[in-house]
Amino acid sequence: MFPFWEKVVAPILELAEVKRLVEIGALRGENTRQILDTVGPEAELHVIDPVPDFDPEEHATEFGGQYIFHRDLSVNVLGGLGAMDAALVDGDHNWYTVYNECRLLAEAARGDGAPLPVMIFHDVAWPYGRRDLYYNPDDVPETYRQPWAHRGMLPGVSELVHEHGLNPTMANALTEGGPRNGVMTGVDDFVAEHPEPLRVLVLPIYFGLAIVVAEERLARQPELAKFLDWLEGAEGRAMLLELAETMRIQAMLFQHRIYFQNEAELEHVARRYMDSLKRELVAELSSPRRADLNALHDGLEIMRAEHLRGHVVTAGVGPGASPALVRAHLDAYKQHGRLVYAIDRFTDTPLEQVRKNLQHCGLLDARVHLVEGDPNLTLADPPVDRVAMLSVGAMPAADVRTVLDRLAPRLAPQAVIQVERAADPAVRAVLDEFRQAHGLTGPETVIADTSVRWRWK
Ligand SMILES: C[S@@+](CC[C@H](N)C(=O)[O-])C[C@H]1O[C@@H](n2cnc3c(N)ncnc32)[C@H](O)[C@@H]1O
Repeated sequence: MFPFWEKVVAPILELAEVKRLVEIGALRGENTRQILDTVGPEAELHVIDPVPDFDPEEHATEFGGQYIFHRDLSVNVLGGLGAMDAALVDGDHNWYTVYNECRLLAEAARGDGAPLPVMIFHDVAWPYGRRDLYYNPDDVPETYRQPWAHRGMLPGVSELVHEHGLNPTMANALTEGGPRNGVMTGVDDFVAEHPEPLRVLVLPIYFGLAIVVAEERLARQPELAKFLDWLEGAEGRAMLLELAETMRIQAMLFQHRIYFQNEAELEHVARRYMDSLKRELVAELSSPRRADLNALHDGLEIMRAEHLRGHVVTAGVGPGASPALVRAHLDAYKQHGRLVYAIDRFTDTPLEQVRKNLQHCGLLDARVHLVEGDPNLTLADPPVDRVAMLSVGAMPAADVRTVLDRLAPRLAPQAVIQVERAADPAVRAVLDEFRQAHGLTGPETVIADTSVRWRWK
């Protein structure tokens, strides 16, 4: 209800000249100060909440005798409070509670010969307008309680859902609609049974706010009637649109704060995972150098940062450290669409051993393709359609040439190409020829002392 305060709730309380009011459901007590500022020092505010998320003693001390807190259920308290001028109803969002809150408020008014209080209800639209919520299901008698579960809700779906629904931890009625279900149904039933005519306004934003006022009061307080007319007219609707947009932006900012905070945390966890994997690979597989693994990781990060489309090919993989690192990178940074291709003759380290090494790290699955044999044959028609990064490890110069030549037509624009052992004169000659043949004049970066990186055209 809080966001409706300035534009809707406060003007109503002022125009209704409210001197005694009750707030049902206070949560963090954020409304208290505004309520008392609006109704003035002579007014009396009763606040009811069985489990407040603030210290009512502090409010009682701050606001003196003006403020009376009731740590109980509304239906246990309202009958003893006497007539109220206004009630802000935002406690337990179910038919039984809301209907009985209305009934008790009306009975208290009748008992004191006073008019029905102005009643303002929050959560009269989706999700709780036509579906019960129980803060504590045991507080509602079984006959009036809908079957419920701790599951979430989706708009337009009557049944609760198992995933991605709103408020999945709350006790929500299993189905939406039907008799004695939801806050608005409670208001509707009360209004239908009430002996005097009532005016009902529903503001359909931010989970819905309903305002119920006796016509008799409106006849006595024409300024209040005028304000309700304004709310229902074009200007009032424009104000609501503006309010809804402000709340939507606030919600989006909140969501982004959480999202980007999570992203930063995930990034941190991913880096730690990659670091510990590199340590494990260096310790358990004899050949990889930490510097080479770092260089491979840096290349993968360039590919990720620039959103290069395609898969990752590592050629000359030794005992399997490079495909392991690439496969881990795909998980760590959620690179869901990419695959890893490991090209090798698998003569120094047999294929079965490489498989075991990857399995040992939990990094062998359907996204890893181990391509065994002479690259002239295995890459005659390359099994990979698009390469975003090509990393060439320890291979004879002739194989380096074959890998580069065969995969060149599959390289994505700006693909990252890294070659270890570029200091070897035979490999160097292959690289120079390849770069010249393809007109690659872009810079060549020396990485990890003996490797180079360049970009495809
Ligand atoms: C939606 S929050 C209230 C939000 C608050 N009105 C605001 O605008 O920030 C609902 C509150 O109602 C309280 N509540 C639940 N059942 C209640 C009941 N039967 N009577 C009174 N308050 C209740 C809960 O403890 C919770 O603090």
